[in-house]
Amino acid sequence: MDRLWPDPTADLDLDAAFTDLALPAAPQGRPLVAINMVTTVDGRAQVAGKADALSSRPDRRLMRLYRTAFDAVGSGAGTLRADDFYSRVPDDLAARRADAGRPPQPTAYLIAGRSAVPTDRRWFTYAEQPRVAVVGSRSPHAPRKEAPADMPLPVETWVAPTELPGVRWLLERLTAAGVGSILLEGGPTTNAAFLAADALDEVYWTVDASLVGTDALSMIAPIPDGSPWAPSPRRGTLVSVHRSDDELFLRYRFESAAP
Ligand SMILES: NC(=O)c1ccc[n+]([C@@H]2O[C@H](COP(=O)([O-])OP(=O)(O)OC[C@H]3O[C@@H](n4cnc5c(N)ncnc54)[C@H](OP(=O)(O)O)[C@@H]3O)[C@@H](O)[C@H]2O)c1
Repeated sequence: MDRLWPDPTADLDLDAAFTDLALPAAPQGRPLVAINMVTTVDGRAQVAGKADALSSRPDRRLMRLYRTAFDAVGSGAGTLRADDFYSRVPDDLAARRADAGRPPQPTAYLIAGRSAVPTDRRWFTYAEQPRVAVVGSRSPHAPRKEAPADMPLPVETWVAPTELPGVRWLLERLTAAGVGSILLEGGPTTNAAFLAADALDEVYWTVDASLVGTDALSMIAPIPDGSPWAPSPRRGTLVSVHRSDDELFLRYRFESAAP
């Protein structure tokens, strides 16, 4: 792993290079929100409907190092439907968190809306990690009036007052739960909801050295009803650039609005 910017340094150990992410302070009144995504050189976040083909070994380790720095890890239900994943960190990184006086695992949030989520995924199996499913008011996982949910989930479940959980509502719940930082791991629709709510502070972007030339979703899906940034893009600053073989690891910071 080479650091290309700042302070160019060759042959860094991956773990050593990312031991301290030095996260910025959270905006007033809400958690810090970052997204971590991998795309092809032509900007696609899916290959044949999944992300697996874009994931290299260094990228997978880096994903876990990023998770280590955050209080919470969030994923959209569409990603769980497409992929089978955990949101945990491995034992060595859990021990590092515990040594620093933090819970060994970040709390995992699954952000769903109107439809059923697949409970046969690994996300549901790792009982040592605190996990919360966030669902919409009409979800089959939401209790009905004075009746249990049609399909109760085996983890703590937050029910939003709206059909799709609003990002502002969710950020308030997270703040009330003591979450100071959340790393979103997609997918593009979830990322778009956070950008539309002007709640996106950092982007960790892996560029896989590949081209696919499809209309697959990009890192952030088009914002429904039009993006406020279409005529004047939100500008960010480059925090760091690393390289491993042909892969690039970029970190950007954006000034987002406080609630
Ligand atoms: N390249 C990468 O790094 C990466 C990372 C993650 C995922 N992916 C890929 O991305 C794809 C999945 O992404 P996706 O965009 O389809 O799904 P997604 O963002 O994972 O999930 C979308 C779902 O979130 C729920 N939701 C909750 N609140 C919402 C809100 N306020 N606005 C909109 N939706 C809300 C809805 O669930 P309901 O359907 O229940 O209403 C919606 O269908 C897969 O192909 C996956 O492999 C790639």
